[in-house]
Amino acid sequence: MTDALTIRRPDDWHLHLRDGEMLALVAPYTARQFGRAIVMPNLVPPVTTVDAAKAYRERIRSAVGDARFEPLMTAYLTDQIDPDEVARGHEEGVLTACKLYPAGATTNSDRGVTDIAAIHPVLERMSAIGMPLLVHGEVVDADIDIFDREKVFLERVLAPTLERFPDLKVVLEHITTAEAVAFVQGAGPNVAATITAHHLRIDRNDILVGGIKPHSYCLPVAKRTRHKEALRALVTTGDSKFFLGTDSAPHARSAKENACGCAGIFSAPFAIESYAQTFDELGCLEKLEGFASLYGPAFYGLPANEETITLERGEQQVPERIDPEGFDLTPFHAGERLGWSLVG
Ligand code: NCD
Ligand code: ZN
Repeated sequence: MTDALTIRRPDDWHLHLRDGEMLALVAPYTARQFGRAIVMPNLVPPVTTVDAAKAYRERIRSAVGDARFEPLMTAYLTDQIDPDEVARGHEEGVLTACKLYPAGATTNSDRGVTDIAAIHPVLERMSAIGMPLLVHGEVVDADIDIFDREKVFLERVLAPTLERFPDLKVVLEHITTAEAVAFVQGAGPNVAATITAHHLRIDRNDILVGGIKPHSYCLPVAKRTRHKEALRALVTTGDSKFFLGTDSAPHARSAKENACGCAGIFSAPFAIESYAQTFDELGCLEKLEGFASLYGPAFYGLPANEETITLERGEQQVPERIDPEGFDLTPFHAGERLGWSLVG
């Protein structure tokens, strides 16, 4: 039995850091574990310009207070986004990628894209310069059941988009279904996906059986058990098209435990330990380094981190609450004992 595991320092390829006091509270948890993170742009107002991304990057750097952690910035696509602005941001090394939120799909997505055709010019430019498109893959049609929204997005939006732009680099973010696994596996090498720590561990029963659990609610919502099992089976294969993205998305307790509770699971504090626990349960700890530390950089055309981290087997208690006098956040695994600890 492996009792210690040393791997290249991982990166988080999908993260919400928020802003202001929330940023100051949550960013150090990520920097403790990860070398880099793709920072989502769904602030209010969203990050849509090079200047806004630069300024946000500076606020993140000062919140972390550690030069070692590198935030990789993204632009929020709107119907009006200027392809020149996005291309300039990429050229200047400020914008790593662009994020597509279908308008109305999730938290702070109201300024998102209402019709994919509106962003064809920017997708054309991104394809030409090799800038990745990060996709929140859910349709928003009222007649499509929320549990089918990812699957229908693949058929109605992503497949035709890839036909039109066959070389566009795409990361299908936070996949939750067997259909998404199959879609990415069947697509070209320019299409990859991130998988969260929580979608490897929870299904819809964890949200709804025995009382509603707002802290397990996120978007895309966790699906049937067979979909979780498809994600778990996938990571055991070590397929390099799938890599780590926590989608850690903190909301204050008052916003989660609410008649209209916000979507988002705050998984940053024990993210790498959670993935390690899952890979250990699946008997594939030797696959963790590829998933967490190697496949993401390879897809983005970046070097893997030189430093390493070490995880040790040994129980640790996850607190029920973080910042109880302030935002009062409930972390993923709250109150549970995790079998792995990050020790260095
Ligand atoms: C995210 C948030 O709160 O910003 N919420 C979530 O449930 N994942 C937005 C998102 O990534 O969908
Ligand atoms: Zn997200």
